Amino acid sequence: MGNNNEKRLRRLRKAMRAASVPALLVTKPVNVRYLTGFTGEDSYLLVSRTDTIMLTDGRFITQLEQECPGLELEVRVQGETMSDLVPRIVKRCKLGRIACEGDSMSIAQFAALTDNLPDVSLEPAPVAFVEQLREIKDRDEIAEIRRAVSYAQRAFMVIRAQWRQSQTERLVAAEIEHQIRLFGGEGCSFPPIVAVGERAALPHARATDVEIGAADFTLIDWGAVAGGYASDLTRVLVTGRISPKLERVYGVVLTAQQRAIEAIRPGVTMSDVDAVARTFIADAGLGKHFGHGLGHGIGLEIHEAPRLSVGSQRKLEPGMVVTVEPGVYLPGWGGVRIEDDVLVTTTGFEVLSDLPRELESCVVDA
Ligand code: GLY
Ligand code: MN
Ligand code: MN
Repeated sequence: MGNNNEKRLRRLRKAMRAASVPALLVTKPVNVRYLTGFTGEDSYLLVSRTDTIMLTDGRFITQLEQECPGLELEVRVQGETMSDLVPRIVKRCKLGRIACEGDSMSIAQFAALTDNLPDVSLEPAPVAFVEQLREIKDRDEIAEIRRAVSYAQRAFMVIRAQWRQSQTERLVAAEIEHQIRLFGGEGCSFPPIVAVGERAALPHARATDVEIGAADFTLIDWGAVAGGYASDLTRVLVTGRISPKLERVYGVVLTAQQRAIEAIRPGVTMSDVDAVARTFIADAGLGKHFGHGLGHGIGLEIHEAPRLSVGSQRKLEPGMVVTVEPGVYLPGWGGVRIEDDVLVTTTGFEVLSDLPRELESCVVDA
């Protein structure tokens, strides 16, 4: 395992000690990856005060030896299930109490483990330990997110240059993924949203066979993955005329986004950043058309903690990377969302994405 993994495990143990949790069974694959560097699946990591043990099966032995040299492995034997293996190792480590990740384990898995651990107290962890650690990105993680932003932006510039009225939403979505992979990305961080005209009123529209030329503008929300890390961007491209309504809605969303970004700095409460954008949009008379949170963390998952949303009382800290993505959605007309990825720095913010945002820059010949 690398130095980063050792550091993360130290931090995890410190948080576990503070919460009086003697051992944690890490079952969520991205959390296992975060702590060990292992990119495979179907493997649990048991972290106690003294032991770090990967519970896995024969398919992953070589991969684990390559990705996590030195990590102790316990391999399921043929016919043995994970709910057989866990008790065997828990007994060997003489643990009487163990916490598991309640957010990622099914009720059936929990019941099977509980049945097989009659003398051990198994309980959901009191906090999402690993997700909380993941909120603050280290230097290497920030470098991967920068790379993911770069692949996404380069792919966008290609599809922008190739923009044609006859292209369908589905074709553009496929081309985004193709370009991301050609530039070196691992793929898309989620299925790209390409929504023409009134379909842009659906914040999470699925790409269809509707053609770009069917309306004046198209909303594109896409992202790339690099080294496991996600980017998440949204832009609008205008092929037809800029109607007064588009100009007004776009202007409101753009200003809301800019003001919210400028409010980002360590110590600011997340709901206050959300409120900057939400109040501006509401004052413009469009408040009821902004029906989602302002942003979310990005990292090993496309949506992760923290959340810039109403009621999020957490404070921003250096190293967090969040999206800022206000939107206004008018059913029957369309929608505008502008989304960028922002790093919280020690003194303020850095916008990691730099595609132009002004409405004039969204106009394309097609
Ligand atoms: N890509 C979905 C979102 O922006 O959160
Ligand atoms: Mn997005
Ligand atoms: Mn997003």
